Amino acid sequence: KQLSVIGVPMDLGQMRRGVDMGPSAIRYAGMVERLEQLKYNIEDLGDIEIPRPKQNTDEKEDNLRNLNEIAEGSRRLAKAVDEVVENKRFPLVLGGDHSIAMGTLAGVAKHYENLGVIWYDAHGDLNTADSSPSGNIHGMPLAVSLGIGHEKLTSIHDYEPKIKPENIVIIGARSLDEGERVLIEEKGIKVYTMHEVDRMGMTQVVEETVDYLKDRTDGVHLSLDLDGLDPNEAPGVGTPVMGGLSYRESHLAMEMLHQSGMITSAEFVEVNPILDEKNKTASVAVGLMGSLFGESLK
Ligand code: ARG
Ligand code: MN
Ligand code: MN
Ligand code: MN
Repeated sequence: KQLSVIGVPMDLGQMRRGVDMGPSAIRYAGMVERLEQLKYNIEDLGDIEIPRPKQNTDEKEDNLRNLNEIAEGSRRLAKAVDEVVENKRFPLVLGGDHSIAMGTLAGVAKHYENLGVIWYDAHGDLNTADSSPSGNIHGMPLAVSLGIGHEKLTSIHDYEPKIKPENIVIIGARSLDEGERVLIEEKGIKVYTMHEVDRMGMTQVVEETVDYLKDRTDGVHLSLDLDGLDPNEAPGVGTPVMGGLSYRESHLAMEMLHQSGMITSAEFVEVNPILDEKNKTASVAVGLMGSLFGESLK
């Protein structure tokens, strides 16, 4: 397999600086070496340039902090990702905060009739400017990709919507805002909250997810927010929520997704080395990539 890595040093989708260093932290944790051992042809395309906002402002256009810079960064990312898919390579995108998923999905989804999305996350990221408690765009990318939100975001890469609600599966949710719950209900989005993971176990959750997506999709994007894991295992994230997925549950999920053969693109987001303990969270991310791409003891 041919992998193309794209870094996105984006920290404008939320308030805590440092997540823009996520791509460096992940590379430093040995990503390329790890994946080369699996005999991948891997090219690192470097980082997308993210525009910097004006100094000393906290401008929020319509409750959307850094709207214009994020829209521009997302357009650049979408172009780069589109080209990777065009060249029949697997895009592996490194965040950066989760707002980058708008650009990644814009670049990928163009190439599929029915792109599936696995959203591995403590959060739904289904807010709009109206429902958002924070004005932080990293809480909105899944809604935006459904075509719900500010036009400057939904129109990225000149088409919308990118995905359909029935092609989404959220895993690990434990912090959903009121407006997000309404949207989940209204659109019939499939969600495995921590409650379901606890009751059914990760094995059944992934089996059902694969089953659900396999007939209705022609490609599946994995969007993995490191805050889906428990903060004890992944402390280097900006919006930690207690009671998350364990290290082993997460590896099991990646291993099973590898065996399914259905994942066609992936991104690992919200790694913030400034909030981390000795780059632990980036190392966890790299380990999960190993499992997703087929590391095995046998
Ligand atoms: N729901 C909260 C908000 O909209 C938190 C979102 C966290 N998102 C993330 N990608 N970590 O502000
Ligand atoms: Mn194309
Ligand atoms: Mn999250
Ligand atoms: Mn997220």
